[in-house]
Amino acid sequence: MAEQTSSLSEMLPIELRIGNETLDEQHDKLFCRIEALKTAAFGDSGISVIALRECATAFAIHFADEEGLAKAAGIEFLVHRNEHAKALRLFDKALREIERGKLDQHSFLRYIEYWFEHHITEHDKRLASRLTDKASH
Ligand SMILES: [Fe+2]
Repeated sequence: MAEQTSSLSEMLPIELRIGNETLDEQHDKLFCRIEALKTAAFGDSGISVIALRECATAFAIHFADEEGLAKAAGIEFLVHRNEHAKALRLFDKALREIERGKLDQHSFLRYIEYWFEHHITEHDKRLASRLTDKASH
């Protein structure tokens, strides 16, 4: 059962909390970042592709942190790492499509959010429970 962490915002719903404080906080910040970009993208001045690239970079940094935690705990991470790598390639492809005018920013932000929710449920929850298991042995 995921524990509540008081510093988390409403952007990270209970169902997506995985019970690892570090990762929940990072996930929360990423959801807040996507939300802020969505709001700005719908605003009059819009957002730059640079802001979207910075968001993709924030994901890359977060993925590296997850990998570091798994490695430090001796947890096998190959499949999970491949999911991260695949996502970064897809984000990059989508960003290039935005630059060429073939994809709109909102679609990208909606996609990234959908991908993230799915990834937390399918991969990060299992990682969190393995980290908890390793910490208690
Ligand atoms: Fe992950």
